[in-house]
Amino acid sequence: MRPYLPFGKPDFSEREIEAVARVLRSGWVGMGPETLAFEGELAAALGVPHVVTTSSCTSAMLMSLKALGIGPGDEVVCPSLTWCSTANAALYLGATPVFCDVDAETLCVHPASVMRVVTPRTRAVMVVHFGGLAAPVAELRAALPPSVAIVEDAAHAFGSRYADGRAVGASGNAVCFSFYANKTLSTGEGGAVAVFDEALASEIRSLRQHGLPEDAWKRFTHPNVVMNANLTRLGYKANYTDLQAAIGRVQLARQAEFSRTRLAAAEVYRAGLQSLPLALQKLATDPAHSRHLFIVLLREGARLSRDELLAALRQRNIGATIHYEPLHLMPLYAGTAAPVSLPQTEQVAANILTLPIGASVTVDDAHDVVAAIREILG
Ligand SMILES: Cc1ncc(COP(=O)(O)O)c(C=O)c1O
Repeated sequence: MRPYLPFGKPDFSEREIEAVARVLRSGWVGMGPETLAFEGELAAALGVPHVVTTSSCTSAMLMSLKALGIGPGDEVVCPSLTWCSTANAALYLGATPVFCDVDAETLCVHPASVMRVVTPRTRAVMVVHFGGLAAPVAELRAALPPSVAIVEDAAHAFGSRYADGRAVGASGNAVCFSFYANKTLSTGEGGAVAVFDEALASEIRSLRQHGLPEDAWKRFTHPNVVMNANLTRLGYKANYTDLQAAIGRVQLARQAEFSRTRLAAAEVYRAGLQSLPLALQKLATDPAHSRHLFIVLLREGARLSRDELLAALRQRNIGATIHYEPLHLMPLYAGTAAPVSLPQTEQVAANILTLPIGASVTVDDAHDVVAAIREILG
């Protein structure tokens, strides 16, 4: 049997290892010059004026909502078909998540699904670029009242493009990325917010360091930086580090290589899974979709249920998985979110399956997965 194939495995070369060694030797491992350099390189790559790195995408979304002034009594709309972080960003602030449906083909929110649940108390909409497919943010902006902010959960979408060709990140909203282990740009943990608004960037820079002034990280080495700032509000400890930034700078330079690897595996899946009772998530024209996740949906009439297919793949050492169990059906949100019925989400979630894809998943791996699925469903 083949060795276990995880659903998403990063690729770290000697270059990342050397970069970490260089930072370790410098003696400065917390947030510092390497982080600033990475933020500048990310901003240039995305075509945005400001990128603020953070400890995770979760904290990036929390601090974006906080910086936008969201708090108790406010409603924040988000899809139910997402990772818990999206809704929790609102919950941490005492706001109420309001779940909306997704489009069954794109698995992203669309203006109609969002507008159905918008109320006068809605202060923000969180958009998830599902699996790396850019959601229709411009159309949503046009449909929403100007007082409602959009925060983009782009955890899957570093390397994706909006329909107009701009990089996801360059919409003018607060766009939050994840650099978690399996993401398209991986530094183990970490995240970032891309924004156009200077004041918003500055606020998030302060929030990530307890609410201290933006340059407080220099206080151990620069005589002119205030040692004991007089705190005026409660921030977080949610900064990035130079050790992570050293990895990130190399991973950023290798994006074209990673993208080729992902696209090649995706093409094997697309070609090899035809004529089976499987639908594929709509794949936008390359390179609009980062191919962070390769999502299939089991059609009615298949010999097996989704869970049986998942179990059979795992028995063959293929780490297929599920993105996601819908949040609106989870006990945590029963008492904290507005009650809803989301037929598309429930239908999709019962049939959805994620196949392995990532910087270390080869074309041969993808052929193994196709062969296994054909044997199981054949
Ligand atoms: C859609 C989505 N949003 C947010 C996150 C959270 O990212 P992080 O682990 O960097 O906080 C994830 C993580 O997998 C995710 O899939």
